[in-house]
Amino acid sequence: MSWTNFFQSLAELEHDDEFVTGRPGGLSAELASRIAKDIAEKLELNDSDALLDYGSGTGAITRELASQVAKATAADSSAVIVKRGKASGSHMEWVELGPDKSPTTGGFTKVLSYYNAHTFENHSGVRTHIEALSDAVAPGGVVMLGDIPDLERTGQWKSGERGREENRTVWMGRLERRGLDIERDERNLASFTERIKRLGIEPPASFGDQHPGFDRDIVTRMFRENGGSVAVVTQPMDFPNAHTCVDYIVRFG
Ligand SMILES: C[S@@+](CC[C@H](N)C(=O)[O-])C[C@H]1O[C@@H](n2cnc3c(N)ncnc32)[C@H](O)[C@@H]1O
Repeated sequence: MSWTNFFQSLAELEHDDEFVTGRPGGLSAELASRIAKDIAEKLELNDSDALLDYGSGTGAITRELASQVAKATAADSSAVIVKRGKASGSHMEWVELGPDKSPTTGGFTKVLSYYNAHTFENHSGVRTHIEALSDAVAPGGVVMLGDIPDLERTGQWKSGERGREENRTVWMGRLERRGLDIERDERNLASFTERIKRLGIEPPASFGDQHPGFDRDIVTRMFRENGGSVAVVTQPMDFPNAHTCVDYIVRFG
């Protein structure tokens, strides 16, 4: 099964919105709220912003952010997910992305893409995504490409040891040492796998595997080629598996 069909199947068969993001352990309202707070700070959201959440899922995080900006738009490539998001009722626009439907060009002062890149198998998948984000952002705007599997941090998965020196990763001086709970992450992944099996969904072949991660220099260059300048790479806030990922904050001139 492809990742696109996986999310579509989850949205069709899983009744609980918390699990439709495909995030091990689900996305409770409490977790969505904590993630949204972290994103709002990193993106420096303000009440004059037009925000696009590209690959929003059912919009749990977008809804949290919508109250802080002038206008919020959620966009996702799955029709079923967009339908569910719309039904959840809140003051934001919804866009179904697709070959003939991508009215997300220009005009957004802040653009977010969060927890989308786990489905990209190589850097060219990231490139296409970065091009779409770069097309959507207004001159002077900011893009946050968040919770991105990171090549340098991959080794922290199942290291079995907490607080080791490898966990202290510094790039551009912004990453911080942090405590990890690797056993918790593995439990979350195992129970999520059981849940999708019970729904009769065959997950994508790479589901649950360690993602090899993306090279920061390559991602940085891809943004530069599309007019963006990576201002900072930071640690996503603490939730399952996030310790192997980074957030890119990118400014456009
Ligand atoms: C893992 S979920 C993340 C949802 C949300 N951003 C969050 O953090 O909870 C990934 C979402 O991206 C959507 N998606 C997958 N490939 C995409 C693409 N190429 N462009 C836009 N959305 C995509 C899927 O339909 C799914 O809803």
